[in-house]
Parts: sequence; C-alpha cells; structure tokens
Amino acid sequence: MVTFLDEKEKATPVFNWPFSKIANSLEASVIRETLKISSKPGIINFAGGLPASELLPIDQIQECCDSVLTDHGAQALQYSISQGVPVLRELIAHRISRQGLPVTADNILITTGSQQGLDLIGRVFIEPGDYVITELPTYLGALQAFNFYQARYAPIPMDNDGMIIEQLEEKIKEFRPKMIYVVPNFQNPSGITLSYQRRKALMNLVFRHQIAMIDDNPYGELRYSGTPLPSLRGLGGDAVIQLGTFSKLISPGLRVGWICAPVSAIKIIEKAKQAVDLHSSTFTQFIAAEFLKRGYLDPHIEQIRTAYAVKRDTMIAAMKEYFPPSIRWPYPDGGLFLWVQLPDNVSASMVFQQAVHQGVAFIHGRPFHPDGSGDNTMRLNFASSSPENIVEGIKRLARVLSQYC
Ligand SMILES: Cc1ncc(COP(=O)(O)O)c(C=O)c1O
Repeated sequence: MVTFLDEKEKATPVFNWPFSKIANSLEASVIRETLKISSKPGIINFAGGLPASELLPIDQIQECCDSVLTDHGAQALQYSISQGVPVLRELIAHRISRQGLPVTADNILITTGSQQGLDLIGRVFIEPGDYVITELPTYLGALQAFNFYQARYAPIPMDNDGMIIEQLEEKIKEFRPKMIYVVPNFQNPSGITLSYQRRKALMNLVFRHQIAMIDDNPYGELRYSGTPLPSLRGLGGDAVIQLGTFSKLISPGLRVGWICAPVSAIKIIEKAKQAVDLHSSTFTQFIAAEFLKRGYLDPHIEQIRTAYAVKRDTMIAAMKEYFPPSIRWPYPDGGLFLWVQLPDNVSASMVFQQAVHQGVAFIHGRPFHPDGSGDNTMRLNFASSSPENIVEGIKRLARVLSQYC
C-alpha cells in the first residue's frame, strides 16, 4: 500500500540532499548572472558567446530536416552508436584530412557540443589534484568542466603570440601536469592566436615531457585576416587530441561537436561517453551530415566570415575613436571576441554596474583567470550585434570608461 505524508509532515522538514562534496563546492557562474542582466530589453549585449542569430541558416536546416526525415526517418529518430553516426564521422574526417592531416572516421567521436568533449577529457584524464596547464586567460567552460574532476591549474601568461612558451618548461618541471589545454586559434576570451614558432616550440615540449595535449578549436575556420597556420594536431599528430564543433559554424542549437584523436584514445573516451548520454542526438547528427553532404557548409562559413569581419572592424574602429587612449586590446584575426585591458587600477566589475545603467553589457574577464587575476579585463562579443548597435554600444561604454581611465 502506498502511504502519503499528510500536509503538516510535508511542510515541516527541510530535506538535506546528500550531494557529493564536489557538487556542493560548485560556484554559481558569474557569467550566468551577467547574462541575465545583459539580456534585459534596451541593453546592447556584448556579453554572450553567441554567434549572430541573423546568420543562422534556418532555411537550409529546414531543407536538411525534411530530407533527413524523408530519407532516413526511423534511423534518424532511433538510438545510435556512442561513437556517432558513421556518415557524419566520415564527412568530418574528410574535412579534417583536407587541412593536411589525414584521419579516418575511426579517429572521430561525436560529442554533444565541444563542451561535452571537455567534460569527457576531464573524465578520462584528471584525477583529483592533477595539474592542468592552461593559457592565462583561458576558456571558462573548460575550467568549469575540469573543476568537476578537481583539477588544479598552472596558468601560463599570454602575449600577442599566445602562451609564453619560455615560461612553460619551468611550469612543467614544477607542477608535472597531466595535460596542457589550449585554444590556439582566436582564443575565447582573448582573441589571440598562437604563433607558428610557438606552436612548434609547444609541440617540442609536449613530446619531450609526454603530456596529453588538448587543442580546443571551435574558431579555427573563422579567420578574417592573416595567414592560416597548421593545427597543433597537424604538427604533433597522435600526440594531440583536437576538439571541434559546428556551434559557431552552423548552429549551437544542434549541439554537434567532435573529438579527433588516435583510435586508442577514442576507444577509452567512447566508454566514458556511453556512461554519460549513450550517444549524441541521432537526429541533429543526421542534419549536420546532410548540411555537409549538400555542400552548404563552405559557402555558409564564407558568408559568416564576411559579416563578422565587418563587425570586428566596426568595433575596433569605434573603440579607436571613442575609448580613452589608456585602454588596450590585442588584434583578433578571427573568432568572436575583443579582449579589453583597462589600466591596472580599474576594476571591470565597477565599470559593469555603470555600463548596464548606460544600456550596454560585457563579460568581466576575471572568471577566465584560474589564478583569480584579470580584474581589469573584459570580453566583448563583436559578432552577435548589428554594426549600428556595435557603434552605439561602444559609445555608451566609452562614456563610462572615460570616468575611470
Ligand atoms: C573555446 C571553447 N570551447 C568549447 C566551447 C563549447 O562549444 P559547444 O559546446 O557549443 O560546441 C566554446 C563555446 O563558446 C568555446 O569558446
């Protein structure tokens, strides 16, 4: 017989959920709070990490959906294998091989966005207390993923050529890290690209010290200026695990990303994925595959590159015109972000409060710093606003900054 608590009993106790220590230690993301404020009506929002909504290929996705349902109906709506739908893995392997790094479908594991790739990497590599080398600043989502596995960090400062490799060997000897995590192209948040010389030097150290090398590359195909560079996996081959995603190239809502790695690593990561979600959405994998098969991806990337280049240039021109001269930023050759460095004594959180009153929002840079530094930094997304709003937003921000800088 089922018995129910009466109303009085239900109301009394506050249930103490027996969450794990790690779950209880997780901090609410500052960014989530910021995004809540910045999505209020009337605010020009440079805060999110979103691609431009007006450039999402709705009509083409609609065609792909129709064709997937017509041609693969039941198969596309069924369970599928953990490694990912074979046709999609083949198409991704073909694209990667085109860039000069021959891989096959066996080297690809489909993930639910690269954020899941980061979680899976954390799962299979990190024991509590292990050190991970990161750039300083680094992608906040990677820190959130690795924090779950109780990683510790040895961050390496960056200059305009990326991670300062001269400091890396010292840190490797001091911390004996489990892995090195880098976003080598148009990094989130700094927009900085790791130079060719540094890529080679980094791979030399990886080989010498035998450390797992994670190359997180969501923005590599979004270059608007400068010369394309060989990927870390292109230089280091099987010593490198590369993460990719269609989030910024097609649509983040598809949640289709991938891990490209030697088969021996794919096999282990696949087991971890099985435990997490069995497999990524069969349906959106088929849609992504159809998008590629129809030849939509390259022209679409061309279209977003052209639009984002204009937006980047518009934001930089407005910053040059309106920002106080003490403010600096590295020039991003691609990606979505401009990284603003205020004078050392200015806190971006103070600026944020005032900026929201003026109707513009950005993301404070400090959460991207595993060592707690970076109070004087902020990240602006140039891709998701219209050129008119970019100019107006920068004017508003400049009015606030001129009180501090
Ligand atoms: C460096 C980096 N890695 C991974 C991700 C996660 O992307 P997704 O899970 O949408 O593929 C992002 C998203 O902004 C990112 O900037």
